[in-house]
Amino acid sequence: DNPEDLKPRSPIVTVMGHVDHGKTSLLDYIRRTNVIAGEAGGITQHIGAYHVTLESGQTITFLDTPGHEAFTAMRARGAQVTDVAIIVVAADDAVMPQTKEAISHAQAAGVPIVFAINKVDREASNPEKIKEQLAGMNLLVEDWGGKIQSQDVSAKKGTGVQEILEKVLLEAEMLDLKANPERNAQGTIVEAMLDKGRGYVTTILVQNGTLKIGDYVLAGQYSGKVRALLDERGHRIDEAGPSTPAAMLGLDGAPQAGDTFVVMDDEREAKQIAQKRQQ
Ligand code: GTP
Ligand code: NA
Ligand code: MG
Repeated sequence: DNPEDLKPRSPIVTVMGHVDHGKTSLLDYIRRTNVIAGEAGGITQHIGAYHVTLESGQTITFLDTPGHEAFTAMRARGAQVTDVAIIVVAADDAVMPQTKEAISHAQAAGVPIVFAINKVDREASNPEKIKEQLAGMNLLVEDWGGKIQSQDVSAKKGTGVQEILEKVLLEAEMLDLKANPERNAQGTIVEAMLDKGRGYVTTILVQNGTLKIGDYVLAGQYSGKVRALLDERGHRIDEAGPSTPAAMLGLDGAPQAGDTFVVMDDEREAKQIAQKRQQ
């Protein structure tokens, strides 16, 4: 891409952390308070990813699949999707084995971390203890004179949630994320399933370019013409640009999470490559 074709894109964020530390609760709170705002009784589809628009007008895309496994599976397949990792640590617990694993994954991928020190509404919570444990691992958060961002949050009450979103954006600004919306789309498969009425429904995350209805897509071992695109509210959309998640209809099979997809000019060629990959 020519530098002049590159436009800013929103960050793609994965939430990771130890079991029961509050990943789902945090994602649910963010989704509830940002995605369906203003839509009385609006029902969100679960498509494995969603994007939120903050009061500032900036947007963040969240991968909403069970963070840890999705991140690991995607990385194992070579997909580099995440720009910023939120690692949740319950302040009434401690830095645990899966916390450490999440930290290692993020570090190995070169992805900046923002810590969410969660459950601070609980009497027994002790955020300072968590920060001390992190310091013991050479991870100095800002309160401790370091550079790593952390935010005390309560995913249950919403305390600190807007603040952590701002910190994610700050981290993202330093990455200077860009993409070219004018080119053929390419990106990553988030999840795929077979729906009785609609056929294969594939959640994709566009990383570069713009995906449009009618495009010929090669996705892992499968291909097809994009018949419809749905956003996380289940609304039909005509296209999905960089950092946009969407559910795509029209593939002839279910690719795996972490497979990449590309738009091709030639439908037959896409099919041939897909068939070769199936052998
Ligand atoms: P797994 O997906 O099983 O690894 O768990 P998780 O990390 O997604 O945790 P989840 O969001 O399911 O939360 C685990 C439990 O902690 C649930 O009972 C939540 O209600 C509770 N919980 C999560 N966040 C908070 C919080 O901020 N405050 C309090 N008091 N409870 C919380
Ligand atoms: Na849980
Ligand atoms: Mg969960």
